[in-house]
Amino acid sequence: MKWKKIGRILILDHYPKDLKEVLDRFDVDSIIKINKIHGQMREPEIELLYGEITETTHKENGCFYSLDLSKVMWSKGNTNERMRIAKLVGDDEIVLDMFAGIGYFSIPIAVHSNPKRVISIEINPNSFKYLKKNIILNNVQGVVEPRLGDCKNFVKDSSANRIIMGYVKNTHHYLNSALSILNDGGILHYHETVPDKLVNTRPISRIRKIAKDKEVKLLNISNIKKYAPGVSHVVLDVKINEK
Ligand SMILES: C[S@@+](CC[C@H](N)C(=O)[O-])C[C@H]1O[C@@H](n2cnc3c(N)ncnc32)[C@H](O)[C@@H]1O
Repeated sequence: MKWKKIGRILILDHYPKDLKEVLDRFDVDSIIKINKIHGQMREPEIELLYGEITETTHKENGCFYSLDLSKVMWSKGNTNERMRIAKLVGDDEIVLDMFAGIGYFSIPIAVHSNPKRVISIEINPNSFKYLKKNIILNNVQGVVEPRLGDCKNFVKDSSANRIIMGYVKNTHHYLNSALSILNDGGILHYHETVPDKLVNTRPISRIRKIAKDKEVKLLNISNIKKYAPGVSHVVLDVKINEK
């Protein structure tokens, strides 16, 4: 049986053969099936298999994430990436999280590192509500600054030492906005879903094209997860300098 447990909610891909056995094994409030994740705001379409509660608090890497699994997604495949990013952030950095969701990256950065500010932009009002709640839950008010709206509209008056682009639908359409406010010597964490044979070429060439005459140094490529057959979700760490 394939399963995931997010807080007190169990996620299965079908109704269990023996519900009682599952409930004896897992101490949960509800069991759900996620049928699809829709569109730009990554909204789930779920079926309740048992119980009624869809809101829960998930603990990961010492951080607390309150969320409603009928309204916002949780990507288990990104667990290692959430912790990896948190450990990379240096003291007093200004971090911009362009696709913040419920605080997937912003919260562990604020909890495990010592940034000056984390500006967290989220377009989905449901995710934004939980982002604000999670800032309080993790006691990182004053560090994480939540902003509701399209990140393209927020970047104009900002500047950042590090920008997280944790989104995989046409992320390259946002590169122009990101690079326009990244400080000299700043780091970009650029996510893309890419056919396996293009992993080492397409994402970096998209960044180089937008960076024009800036110096683009590839620091690392990590494979986050398989996205579809022959397609991977990868993240590139890239340092950008003025020439
Ligand atoms: C769900 S997260 C990606 C998952 C995350 N990387 C993780 O660790 O699980 C992507 C978020 O970007 C938000 N988003 C999409 N387009 C956006 C935009 N233009 N500006 C701000 N947020 C946006 C979506 O609503 C979604 O909450």
